[in-house]
Amino acid sequence: MSGPATRQGAPALSLYQLLDPEVLANPYPLYRRLREESPVYWDPYLHAWVVTRYPDVVEVLHHFHADRTPTPERLDQLGMGEITPIAQVMVEQMLFLDPPQHGRVRRLASVAFSPGRIAVLREHIGGICDRLFDELAGSGGFDVMTTIANPLPAIVTAEMLGVPTSDHLLLKGWSQDFAEMLGNFQHNPGRARKTLKAVEEMTHYFHAAVKRDAVHPTDGLIHALSTAEVDGDRLSESEVVANVIVTMVGGQETTTNLIGNGLLTLLREPEQLDRLRADPGLIQSAVEELLRYESPSQHTARIAPAGAELRGVPIPEGDAVMAVMGSANRDPYRFEDPDRLDLGRQDNRHLAFGWAAHFCFGAPLARMEGQIAFSKLLQRFGSLALADEEVTWRPNLGLRGLSELNVLAS
Ligand code: HEM
Repeated sequence: MSGPATRQGAPALSLYQLLDPEVLANPYPLYRRLREESPVYWDPYLHAWVVTRYPDVVEVLHHFHADRTPTPERLDQLGMGEITPIAQVMVEQMLFLDPPQHGRVRRLASVAFSPGRIAVLREHIGGICDRLFDELAGSGGFDVMTTIANPLPAIVTAEMLGVPTSDHLLLKGWSQDFAEMLGNFQHNPGRARKTLKAVEEMTHYFHAAVKRDAVHPTDGLIHALSTAEVDGDRLSESEVVANVIVTMVGGQETTTNLIGNGLLTLLREPEQLDRLRADPGLIQSAVEELLRYESPSQHTARIAPAGAELRGVPIPEGDAVMAVMGSANRDPYRFEDPDRLDLGRQDNRHLAFGWAAHFCFGAPLARMEGQIAFSKLLQRFGSLALADEEVTWRPNLGLRGLSELNVLAS
């Protein structure tokens, strides 16, 4: 099943290979080997199954359990008792709930994305892009991450939630710290302490925001979640706060990575970039292709139900399973010539937003942000090029994104 040991003795097919910066910079050869040599792979380092083919990832996302937050007792056994307060927030977040609790929270939350609300956000996203680009005019070059990819989703998220947009740096800091925990599977005490602090501060901040909203209502998600009622059912305040946190983190890190990874991909494929400039009407399919090609969220986890089997391999009930969307999106049995970027690609039902019940709650907003940001960037800057061929990927194994992206622009 396993090949020769490489990274710190980990078998060649282990997802632990992603700790090697070269593999992290280009994980696709590792994914290809997994799909071809062992598509349902028991990773002894992760102590989890790793699933990499498109139909298997769909199956896992569709039928396996999402309730995967360890109990306080389990965390104690694992010597990770200090992160119990984080787990207590996670158990109330929709991302980690199964039916019927999941449907209940998701239904109550869905009122936040009415067509009217989306239309208002669309207009604001255009305005925010214009302001951010105005500040860059005449600079000759800039780091896309600090000037656009970080602030744009942070400001949009503040608006979506209904908190002051002037707090966007605060939201971004918390979101980055929480994402370190979400995206990485190896326990790291230093990182856990940072996440704990962020959870404590966010919880305090959003409880205060809920109380403020009760007196001065906003039209954001905090208000929608606090007041939503279906058949007399309402969310508790801690459920509201937990789901505001998951939406805040889910909405920022991934969208930041869509903008950073997407632009890097376009700059590395100048012919495709010129194609988009020549035909701006391609923007919708272009964003879908960028999501498929360099997926911001590379994998997620589930728990095997009783009687699970994938490709004839029985998966014991309760085992952890990693569904690697980043690999499924390059599966040649699903996508023709999957390693080729084609901004006009048809039949592009990628898994970058997941699948089935937990399909990304914010996908319409994320698509809109990506489409507006890339369109306006190309309109504003007639010439764009990479300042350095070498780029640095953030050391986050699941949430794939850059720490810096320096471009020359005029
Ligand atoms: C390019 C941007 C985005 C990507 C690639 C992305 C990706 C994903 C993926 C893969 C999932 C499913 C995870 C799983 O099944 O385990 C998900 C769920 C979720 N996303 Fe996104 N997301 C993006 C933007 C957003 C935005 C803008 C928001 C907030 C408005 C958001 C909020 C959420 C929430 C709350 C969930 C949990 C849904 C549930 O469990 O029912 N995401 N996202």
